[in-house]
Amino acid sequence: MIAGRAIDHVGIAVRDLEQAIRRYELLGFRLAAREVVADQGVEVAFLTLEGGTSVELLAPVVEDGAVARFLARRGEGMHHLAILVDDVRAALAEARAQGWQPVDAEPRRGAGGKWIAFLHPRDTGGVLVELCQKP
Ligand code: CO
Repeated sequence: MIAGRAIDHVGIAVRDLEQAIRRYELLGFRLAAREVVADQGVEVAFLTLEGGTSVELLAPVVEDGAVARFLARRGEGMHHLAILVDDVRAALAEARAQGWQPVDAEPRRGAGGKWIAFLHPRDTGGVLVELCQKP
């Protein structure tokens, strides 16, 4: 069993990052961090609510990246659910032991220097799941 600790964030694909930030600020979120993640072809913004819940807004900065393709196919909306784990590598091994085929064979660096790996929606009931571990 993968020992999830908490929902770390919900990832939301957007076309216009500035507009999306303003929208979430209207919902009570505050901008906490923003960065370009070059190897994923996105600029991301993390916004948090007072209670500690976060969203990650993802806007494409390249036309052929995964998030650009997602937007073309599905439009704006929920992209992934991120679950905090103590050890992404161990969680990937657990996933494989269940017969799942994770998108990522190995953990990689995500926004904020976190270690991340994605589980495929075909194994998780239609939801792209990001496993993440604090840096
Ligand atoms: Co994420």
